[in-house]
Amino acid sequence: MKQINAYADFYELVNNRYSCRKYSDEPVSRDKILDIINAARLAPSACNKQPWQFVVVDTPELHDEVAKCYDRNWMKFAPVYIIACGNHAEAWHRADGKDHTDIDVAIAVEHICLAASALGFETCWVCNFDEKMLSAALNMPEGMEPIAIIPLGYRMPDSAVAPKNRKEMDQIVKWGKY
Ligand SMILES: Cc1cc2nc3c(=O)[nH]c(=O)nc-3n(C[C@H](O)[C@H](O)[C@H](O)COP(=O)(O)O)c2cc1C
Repeated sequence: MKQINAYADFYELVNNRYSCRKYSDEPVSRDKILDIINAARLAPSACNKQPWQFVVVDTPELHDEVAKCYDRNWMKFAPVYIIACGNHAEAWHRADGKDHTDIDVAIAVEHICLAASALGFETCWVCNFDEKMLSAALNMPEGMEPIAIIPLGYRMPDSAVAPKNRKEMDQIVKWGKY
């Protein structure tokens, strides 16, 4: 019974999370930001390498510099950015050379997005940024790559929530072989 409730809560969380593109300017406390990032800290990673770091931008000057790296007006209004960075040298590479940095960081980012939603905040994955500009703005050390910007904040009450537009189960599930 307990498990069923846990799934119901989890389902509600993943079903309600959405890409928010309209934020209020209400600040987010550093304690809450740390709670959210703690969910990323607990994420699984290949060979438990944890090849990630999270740069938190919550001061006005740097905020503007990061906003300029993504050419969309809406992102300027999020009060906080978390930049999820991957360390390719630290990550697990399979014997055939496949680098697992992006997979590991992606899991951690989604933990952040879900933890934020659970705490009443909203987020949006942003990957379509100018990588060179962002690396320069953050003084990114050699070998670290900014993989996603996560704007974080409270939604504006009139922030549009698009209906979930997803493939049907029978389009994505194959039982057995192709
Ligand atoms: C890896 C990845 C990169 C994304 N990059 C962007 C982006 O650069 N800008 C943006 O507005 N949304 C971006 N998104 C958000 C997607 O557009 C969004 O998740 C998708 O349309 C489904 O909508 P939903 O998140 O509201 O359910 C990205 C999502 C993912 C997972």
